[in-house]
Amino acid sequence: MSSNVVVAIDGYSSCGKSTLAKALAKKLHFIYVDSGAMYRAVTLYFLRNNVDLKDEEAILAALKDVHLNFHSRDYNSHILLNDEEVSDEIRLMPVSENVSAVAALKSVRHEMVKQQQRMGASKNIVMDGRDIGTAVFPNAQVKVFMTADPKVRAERRFKELSPANPDLTLEDVFENLAHRDYADTTRAESPLTRAADAIILDNTNLTPEQQLDFALEKLKPFLK
Ligand code: DC
Repeated sequence: MSSNVVVAIDGYSSCGKSTLAKALAKKLHFIYVDSGAMYRAVTLYFLRNNVDLKDEEAILAALKDVHLNFHSRDYNSHILLNDEEVSDEIRLMPVSENVSAVAALKSVRHEMVKQQQRMGASKNIVMDGRDIGTAVFPNAQVKVFMTADPKVRAERRFKELSPANPDLTLEDVFENLAHRDYADTTRAESPLTRAADAIILDNTNLTPEQQLDFALEKLKPFLK
């Protein structure tokens, strides 16, 4: 039996999951895996290749051509789609607007979960996403469920995205988040939901340092 530690961080879009996950990984010397980046990279591939989301055979064929790898520098994970660095492109609006539909597909989830479980099979990892504590690693030693006020989340994401997207408005970002929250929590396959044994972290009024301290304090018993 393996004795590696898995920290599963789930929660709504743009509520600071990756900030916390990266900070924890750095502090604990764990590997950080951004599972959302995997769904985003698949979405980018599907958009580039005009994959019809209603055509199950086309989806399965496309998934065979999608090879995802992470390379990690300073606990920032960079994702490679068929050896091409796509970390920036997957954050742009075309992917953000289509990723929920792709992430709702059973065959896509099946493939991503398989790959994610492989990554955490023997290493100490921090993985963030929507179904990590419920579907990917239901036996994770530590589970955190993050939430924050939707307006605060939209403002944070807007600040992040607007320098590279001058036409973007705060309303666009708010709408996109609301749409993704709805899609993520209501889809049939592994909807976003809090695992019964997850610690709740509402970071509306917390700084990144405060949320890290909160999480480390809660994790103490599990990380001897
Ligand atoms: O965390 P993010 O915003 O980069 O995630 C992008 C999308 O992928 C989001 O709309 C939900 C989906 N996702 C998912 O369904 N399951 C995961 N484990 C991670 C992300």
